[in-house]
Amino acid sequence: MSTQNETVAETQAPARTAQHRRYLMCRPEHFTVSYRINPWMEPTKPTDTAKAVRQWQDLYDTYVSLGHEVELIDPVPGLPDMVYTANGGFIIDGRALGVKFRVPERSGEERPFMDWFAANGFDVVEPVEVQEGEGDFLLVGDTILAGTGFRSVGDSHRELGEVFGREVVSLRLVDPRFYHLDTAITVLDPVEGPGGVDRANIAYLPSAFDDESQRILAERYPDAIHVSDEDGAVFGLNAASDGKHVFISPRATGFAAQLAERGYTPVTVDLSELLLGGGGIKCCTLELRGGRR
Ligand code: ARG
Repeated sequence: MSTQNETVAETQAPARTAQHRRYLMCRPEHFTVSYRINPWMEPTKPTDTAKAVRQWQDLYDTYVSLGHEVELIDPVPGLPDMVYTANGGFIIDGRALGVKFRVPERSGEERPFMDWFAANGFDVVEPVEVQEGEGDFLLVGDTILAGTGFRSVGDSHRELGEVFGREVVSLRLVDPRFYHLDTAITVLDPVEGPGGVDRANIAYLPSAFDDESQRILAERYPDAIHVSDEDGAVFGLNAASDGKHVFISPRATGFAAQLAERGYTPVTVDLSELLLGGGGIKCCTLELRGGRR
């Protein structure tokens, strides 16, 4: 990892405070690209599993070194995409909504994730509608932003609202390279501010959304960071944040500068090997909110 100098940005931008996070990750011991379910995947191109594990370990170590807790789920042979734990569920206040994959290649992951949630003290809700968890659902303050267009179906957004009793805002993705919502939006400040005031902010790639969704995002998040197509194309938005440190790809240099200007500290972690499967930092990170320790 490498951290940018914070002092320069802090003179003009608000000071940011890191909030403790608890994440679920899965070591990519069985990672490879043997099928193609998104435009990034090329099954004929060789992959280097040892390299994927090293890069993944760097992300794990980075989280831990900054004080975050990381839980692990055992990788299952024959499920090469299980490393992308963001697609394993969606969790708020100790309640874990399982997933129902659009793509049959990944359906074998549904049960192991739900079993892990149950064994670790979460209340598990089995989904009825097709959706791919935190890949398409993002908690921003008190609101859930929900993606559709490629993987999660519109009806899953209604189910999501019923399960969590929160406002759900549907957004439509239109570019096949950005097939999950977490490839086009980064949640920067995931929790509410003092007094319940929603200070949460996001960064996003406008061109990944249809006109109506772009209008909704512009209206709800007037202070959002608009990321360039160039930074979007290197999966710059597939990033995690603790409210201060934003974990991003080293290739998203413009986005890193935008973050620093706003007082965030970009922390770069290179997951180039896992990008061959169409996933990055956020895909490998599932947030565990609430539940038993
Ligand atoms: N190969 C995986 C798929 O296409 C990558 C998943 C990336 N995950 C994410 N949260 N965007 O399903």
